Amino acid sequence: MRSFMGRDILSLKDFDRHEYFRVFEVAAMLEPYARDRHNGDLLAHKTLVTAFYQPSTRTRLATEAAMHRLGGHVTGFSDAKMTRAGDFYQEGIQDTVKMLEYYGDVIAMRHFQQGAPAEAALHASVPVINCGDGWGEHPTQVLTDMMTIYRERGTLDGLKWVLIGDMRMRTMHSISYALSKFDTQNYVIAPDEMYFLPEFEQEVTDMGFRFQRKEHIEQVIAEADVIYMEPVVQPDYTKARQEATDDKGRTPANYQVTKKLLFEKAKSDAIVLHSLPRQDELLQDVDTTRHQRYWVEAYNGVLMRMALLALILGGVE
Ligand code: CP
Repeated sequence: MRSFMGRDILSLKDFDRHEYFRVFEVAAMLEPYARDRHNGDLLAHKTLVTAFYQPSTRTRLATEAAMHRLGGHVTGFSDAKMTRAGDFYQEGIQDTVKMLEYYGDVIAMRHFQQGAPAEAALHASVPVINCGDGWGEHPTQVLTDMMTIYRERGTLDGLKWVLIGDMRMRTMHSISYALSKFDTQNYVIAPDEMYFLPEFEQEVTDMGFRFQRKEHIEQVIAEADVIYMEPVVQPDYTKARQEATDDKGRTPANYQVTKKLLFEKAKSDAIVLHSLPRQDELLQDVDTTRHQRYWVEAYNGVLMRMALLALILGGVE
């Protein structure tokens, strides 16, 4: 297995099976800090720089919380408008990163341009973590998803997944790469205009991601071990920010999971994951069902990011 020390986390394309389990193992080792709400000092001598060019609630705060739990320091920005990248100068990634690398020991970046964290990694002397790049990938979200399922089921093999929503989403790209490394059967449900791009479909198929396309959640919900959701009412992820409009549209029943549907058709132990935020594809009545694990992911997301930071920064071997 490759060492995590000093490594960029840009994509799950090249993550192998053992690396998932190593991250989960370290997360379990570090869990007492989060469970007991007690900050330690494992990374007391390190600083995280968060460079967020797109809004975020979960990813930025979970990464920062993970660093605080391990006693590390945090600096950065959550809105590029307050930096020279977001004003008259439109300062580029290369020049920005040549500064940030001296302000900390690891850079966690979210950007509206696909490939921006990879470009940052080319120029930075410190590791870069991709916290979501345009429509590209979202590795830390999907590591959290995979860990959540592993902690529930004790395995990542032999499961049936239903991926439902906008397949252009960065989470859907990362989860397809991840599932290609495990023995899973998968269904994909998406509107035509939100389906995988042909080159991506070819790539993940070649990597071993086995799936069938379906039209409606009702066709497959009874078989699902994991229902992995994203909205179909979506903003444009290539933009730095999109304001809400009065009429965003509504989600067709094909792409909607409800309490009624789960109770009538799903396996009793089926798990619903959603990276959030949500629209009307996942109604709040699902929150109180035994299928919901998206709130559990708030906790798991901190554990997983503690593990990644500790591994990358040499807090653990
Ligand atoms: N899951 C996720 O990426 O959420 P945020 O956009 O709030 O970080």
